Order: sequence, then structure tokens, then C-alpha cells
Amino acid sequence: MENSTRTRSFVTRGRKTEAQQRALDELWPTYGVDLGEAALDLDEVFGRKAPRVVEIGFGNGENLLALAALYPERDFLGVEVHGSGVGHALNEAHVRGLTNIRVIRHDAVEVLDEHLQAASVDEVLLFFPDPWPKNRHRSRRLVQPEFAQLVVRVLKPSGVFRLATDWEDYAEHMLTVLDAAPGLVNAAGERGFVERPADRPVTRFERRGERLGHAIKDLEYRPTAHP
Ligand SMILES: C[S@@+](CC[C@H](N)C(=O)[O-])C[C@H]1O[C@@H](n2cnc3c(N)ncnc32)[C@H](O)[C@@H]1O
Repeated sequence: MENSTRTRSFVTRGRKTEAQQRALDELWPTYGVDLGEAALDLDEVFGRKAPRVVEIGFGNGENLLALAALYPERDFLGVEVHGSGVGHALNEAHVRGLTNIRVIRHDAVEVLDEHLQAASVDEVLLFFPDPWPKNRHRSRRLVQPEFAQLVVRVLKPSGVFRLATDWEDYAEHMLTVLDAAPGLVNAAGERGFVERPADRPVTRFERRGERLGHAIKDLEYRPTAHP
């Protein structure tokens, strides 16, 4: 995907607290993943072989941390651009003694495109992505046909792509884009939503959506069987 002209799904924002900055300085060597020219060898990154979950735009890490604690036998790679969220997540990972988390601070589109190996991930999670509700900002939404192909590229044939949103219009957009995406099939059938996964914790963004009276929609896609 062409990087220089691409519309991005985020704007840089917010200040880090002292504790978040300290976490970035002190805990990055433990949890942070620096990107280089070569695609990441996730066995090397985590120091073991295990099922791999990638969460895109993890915010403060509420979901990432909860799932990592719940499933110590799986590895969780979080990708987030927002420094204060990354700092918060590193701090919490340390406090909770989690060893199965690593964090990339970078645009997830580039991470999927260039820094992960093909067919190397068991689950991709995208929960409550920025909705960009104004018409003129729609192209900033992460879920686009090109993005779907990046997810298809990194997923193992047995993998799964899970999404959630509280924006009705974004939920419909996700269905339109992903139902039409070559290489993905909607686990709930055409234009279907799945039940809320029992292990998906309620995050700040979900609570906010509920306060606003928004319905929460969960989606699940699987790679189509290759002949
Ligand atoms: C609305 S928040 C939701 C956070 C979290 N998933 C939750 O449910 O609490 C969306 C997050 O996605 C991040 N984000 C947006 N575009 C991104 C991208 N291209 N790469 C990595 N993170 C991104 C933003 O910085 C923000 O923290």
C-alpha cells in the first residue's frame, strides 16, 4: 500500500502523564517491539511458539490486558499509535506481571502490510475503531477494502478476524466492505452480526457508546477455505 499519500485513520493527540512517559522509557525494552526492515519473527519476539492474537488500536489496553491475563497460553501483540495509551498499557502489563504481551507503537496499516509475516496470526481484533462519523472523514476509517486484504494476508487459514463497534453506520460499513472482501467470509452469514463474545471485556469506549444509547455490534470473519 502506498504510504506517502495514504489517508490515515488517526491524528496525533494528547499528552502523556509522567507515569506513562516513565513506563515508555523503562518498560519499552521488556514489552516494546522495534520495527526494522525484515518482517517480525513472532516466535523470536515472544520467545516461544504459541497462538498469536494481534489487537489493532488497543487504546489504553483494557481488552489486550484482560485477554492476556485470561489466556496465558496465547501471545498478544498490541498495535497502537497513541503514546499515552501505550504507556498506560505497559505500566499495567508490568503491574499485573503479564509476560505474554508485546506492543508496537506504529500505524497498524503499515504493520499489517510490511512488518508481519503472511499467515502468521491466529486472531486479529479491531474493537471500537475511531468511527469518523462526518461524511468528509469517511475515508479515514480503518475498515476499507485494502485494509481487509492486509488482514487476509496475515491471518492463518484457520484464523479469525473479530470486530466490534457502537456506531450503527460504521457497523453497516464494515458489513459492506468485509462481506465483499475476497478471502473473507462472514461467520454469521451475509450481513450478519455475531453474539457478543463472552470474553470481550467492556471497555471505556463501549461504556461511552452505551451511555449514548448506541447498540453494540460484534462481527466475525474467517478466511475462506483455499482449494
Ligand atoms: C476509539 S479508540 C478504541 C480503543 C480500544 N480499542 C477500546 O475499545 O477501548 C481507537 C484507537 O485506535 C487507535 N488507532 C487509530 N488508527 C490506528 C492505526 N492506524 N494504527 C494503530 N492504532 C490506531 C487510536 O489511537 C485509538 O486509540
